[in-house]
Amino acid sequence: MTNAHRITKAVTSIIPVEERYQHIRPVPQLPNFAAHIEGVDLQKPLSAAVREELYQALLDFEVLFFPPQSLTPEQHLELASVFGPVAQGAYFPRKDGHSQIEVIETDEKRPPSIDHWHSDVTWVAEPPAGTVIQITEGPSVGGNTAWASLSKAFQALSPGMRDYLRGLTATHTWEISNWRNYLAGLGEDVLAKAIKEFAPVEHPVVRPHPESGKEVLFVNETFTRNINGVSSTESREILRFLTQWLKQPEFIYSHKWELNGIAVWDNRTTQHYALADYWPHRRVNQRVTFNVRGAKQQERTVLEIVGAENRVSSRAYGE
Ligand SMILES: [Fe+2]
Repeated sequence: MTNAHRITKAVTSIIPVEERYQHIRPVPQLPNFAAHIEGVDLQKPLSAAVREELYQALLDFEVLFFPPQSLTPEQHLELASVFGPVAQGAYFPRKDGHSQIEVIETDEKRPPSIDHWHSDVTWVAEPPAGTVIQITEGPSVGGNTAWASLSKAFQALSPGMRDYLRGLTATHTWEISNWRNYLAGLGEDVLAKAIKEFAPVEHPVVRPHPESGKEVLFVNETFTRNINGVSSTESREILRFLTQWLKQPEFIYSHKWELNGIAVWDNRTTQHYALADYWPHRRVNQRVTFNVRGAKQQERTVLEIVGAENRVSSRAYGE
């Protein structure tokens, strides 16, 4: 038993890349996590075989990276469509003429503010499946994005802890996050409407991925308010333990961006953290979100629902 703790952080079997992939070449950066994809030209139409392997790669490796390529808006949207139906996005400013592409600009006046771990929008019943981002302007150094594997974090827990967590649910809400400040920056009426329209939701603490079947640790320090059905002390201490647990280096890949580099993440199996070490330099992130395959498409954006689609917040927020 002496070595059991260390052994649990290793994966049980390495994904056989050469057997499984004929049309693309995933190069994992950690065992079964965070793959750089070689052999795909995103500036040309993608064949059905390449699309299918890219989809499989996202299930397998949870975050994918492509070398720098200058994508047109149409190519960016096409890449997102490989992984799921393109969503309306979340709540950021839109690229001119392309309402499904969100643009997050940080600079001297709008400092970066997403230097905390989260999955996107876990405060709705069906959070987005994932996002494709491209960094089109950035600092010469700094401004990395880090991703944590929630499947690796869960598998490394002891069997008894895993069993305990499988029986729990947790409450998620944006009200404990910086998004509250962002909304307040749009107007007090917007904030009041958001409280009414986006009430807290419950998710299982261990949420199996519907397609890969991987069990993942689905709590985050940004939006998870409490564990349900246990004392407030137990909830607080278990959440503190879990949110610290998943920050171990074995579960995390920190990506250094090159200009026009591209990343795709599965929002159901990962959390991310945008390093805030480059202010006052400028960084521009263009993002397209995709939903779960077969999910009902939202008709309005979050900002439309809260009556703020034509307003600009004084606070930057988002990655
Ligand atoms: Fe995010």
